[in-house]
Amino acid sequence: MIESHIIGTGSYLPEKILTNNDLASMVDTNDEWIVSRTGIKQRHIAGENELNADMAYQAAQKAIESAHIQAQDISMIIVATTTPDYTFPSVAACVQAKLGAKCPAFDMQAVCSGFVYAMSTAHQFIQSGSMKHILVIGSEKMSSILDWKDRRTCILFGDGAGAVVLGAKPNIDASVSNTPHRGILSSYLMAQGQHKDILYADGGVASTQSAGVIHMNGQEVFKHAVTKMSAAINQALKKAGLTKDAIDWLVPHQANQRIIDSLGKKMKLESDRVISCVANHANTSAASIPLALDYAAQSSQFKEGDLLCFVAIGGGLTWGACLLRW
Ligand code: COA
Repeated sequence: MIESHIIGTGSYLPEKILTNNDLASMVDTNDEWIVSRTGIKQRHIAGENELNADMAYQAAQKAIESAHIQAQDISMIIVATTTPDYTFPSVAACVQAKLGAKCPAFDMQAVCSGFVYAMSTAHQFIQSGSMKHILVIGSEKMSSILDWKDRRTCILFGDGAGAVVLGAKPNIDASVSNTPHRGILSSYLMAQGQHKDILYADGGVASTQSAGVIHMNGQEVFKHAVTKMSAAINQALKKAGLTKDAIDWLVPHQANQRIIDSLGKKMKLESDRVISCVANHANTSAASIPLALDYAAQSSQFKEGDLLCFVAIGGGLTWGACLLRW
């Protein structure tokens, strides 16, 4: 039995900050409305010539450094993203070239659930024994698919990247139990394409030959969010043979503070056990969980043996949860 441990984390936020007050000079909105409805105070916006792969690379370098390995030690790169720089090559291939790594690299598109999907995928490669160090990145330039005249959506999103290095470690008790004791314990992934119209970008390579902009029925998305994310957590707990009182830290998708609070309440977790940094960078889609994870890891919030739960929902709809013992 081989376990997948997080052995390094890193993140990157672009220098430019757009506050709620800045937005109020662009669309009919105000700081009070945005903070009370979403908890968001500001978002970071990539520079004009700053690509998704540039942000992903910055986060990756920090994760590699904190894992105390070299780029040459990486056996695979997976980038969860919805906003690739090019139709092809993938962001992952661009990051691989920048790092000088020698390994397979590909993107994974599950919108805001992308990082949970990517972690679960990386875990399969590690458990199979074929990969030793997998660089999993969530990186998004959401500013490139926003309609800056639509106050219902442009206030919600931001740019940034987060990364982890998943490392393979043998389970020393493998003879006693055939399940991981540390690292990733279980995951649950799901999608329901029939809800695609409540959150989507109206462009695409084969349809409009442009990226399009985000459209959203906010209230519908909100309704699905808490129900589906809590159900996903329960499914992941069931697979790991655990109950919700075992969770030490919830690291949820950073979309909206009200969703985060409702989810924490549903899982009966005190608010200081729920990682939140949505106020600082808004919804960065697939980057939001690794950004929150790195933020908490940097401030040494997690102790060895703590049970972390990653959970997300996004366009598709896609959703999922992943349990990991730190
Ligand atoms: N500033 C000021 N007013 C705004 C506004 C803004 N940025 N955006 C919308 N409004 C207005 C609406 O036009 C509406 O006005 P009306 O009553 O005169 O028509 C009013 O505020 C209420 O709009 P509504 O859409 O009902 O607001 P809400 O309470 O549902 O909050 C969201 C909107 C988007 C904050 C909320 O639905 C939400 O958080 N949904 C989840 C979104 C999300 O997280 N998506 C990503 C998931 S991955």
